[in-house]
Amino acid sequence: MTDEGFTVTPYTVSGEIDYEKLLEQFGADRLTDEQIARFPEPRHPLVRRRVFYAERDVDRFLRAANAGERHSIVTGRGPSGAMHLGHIVPLYFAKHVQQQTNALVYIPFSDDEKYFVKDRSLEEIGAQTRDNLRDLLAVGFDPDRTRIVVDTADADVVYPLAVAFATEVTQSTFRATYGDPENIGHSFYPAVQAAHLLLPQLVAGRHPTLVPIGIDQDPHVRVCRDIAAKQRYDLDKPGALLSKFLPSLEGPGKMSSSDSGSDTAPTILLSDDRDTVLEKIHTHAYSGGRSTVAEHRTHGGDPAVDVSYQLLYSFFENDDDRLDRIAREYRDGSLLSGELKEMAADAIASFLDAHQRRRQQLDSLETELERYRLTEREREAAHRRVGYTHLKP
Ligand code: TRP
Repeated sequence: MTDEGFTVTPYTVSGEIDYEKLLEQFGADRLTDEQIARFPEPRHPLVRRRVFYAERDVDRFLRAANAGERHSIVTGRGPSGAMHLGHIVPLYFAKHVQQQTNALVYIPFSDDEKYFVKDRSLEEIGAQTRDNLRDLLAVGFDPDRTRIVVDTADADVVYPLAVAFATEVTQSTFRATYGDPENIGHSFYPAVQAAHLLLPQLVAGRHPTLVPIGIDQDPHVRVCRDIAAKQRYDLDKPGALLSKFLPSLEGPGKMSSSDSGSDTAPTILLSDDRDTVLEKIHTHAYSGGRSTVAEHRTHGGDPAVDVSYQLLYSFFENDDDRLDRIAREYRDGSLLSGELKEMAADAIASFLDAHQRRRQQLDSLETELERYRLTEREREAAHRRVGYTHLKP
């Protein structure tokens, strides 16, 4: 991998990522125009503008979604720290699809994974889990069609499933897919994430599922697809919608490589207020503009490398005409960097404002979560599918 100048795994993202090469490396397919057109309207900017640029088996998912047949989305969170914009984007995307197609949405929290790979105490991971769960609840999923699972707290359901799948993954598959494990917990974890990705089908029977995630998570999908392909359990391979990374403020690349550990780049946190967002964008957002106003007015700027523009493009400016106009005016120099930054900061701050307001209105975590937990029946159904009929907890 390193001879290509970049590395992308769930645990390391580094170098200058060549997204096309990555597709070859991973064996995923480019998302086609025809597939994009089959997403129900209004299409989310992430799809329309190809931030989600690759896929696995998205056709089956789209067919089911458009035919009103059962279809599910799985998108999770590794609670290793405070959540930033890049973390919440797939969750808002999942909500958007749920509102359009009534998709069932499953959201696993891999607190175990983060304990295995991060230098954090169980206490710290626990505090992050509780904090991140509140952000997740603030998104506002439909409780009747959404299930949240925390690996350690829902171990009664997750653990027997992970046990069932663990024998399907060898140590050499682990090494080839992820590199050297940090410890034996880490080695075991892909079986847990396979349980997450198969959970909708384990609970409700075989049906098309979709995992919309950053492409760094694709190795987990691959491992899980191989497990599903063995047909021991009569399951569809989970499909995937794979995204490029939202730019970090300092330029293209993954927004805070929270998994590589050495990063100090400022990111926009979900808890940032308007002034903080403005300040972070003004001081840190990499600009595609010229160094003086006079030069900018004559030569114009480059939206393709401008972080403020990229943020508007990916998520925060839904209106295509407005976005086109912004790009045009930036290129011809009539829109200045400072003005573009202002626009991005404004859009982000308003989004965060609404998110924070919903978060503040939440009841206690336990009370809120109650409505999203797997029912006793759902837990038993999942167990039955893998042949687990032992004792109840
Ligand atoms: N492994 C993911 C991360 O590190 C979190 C995660 C756990 C996840 N289960 C998932 C993501 C299922 C998508 C689908 O961020």
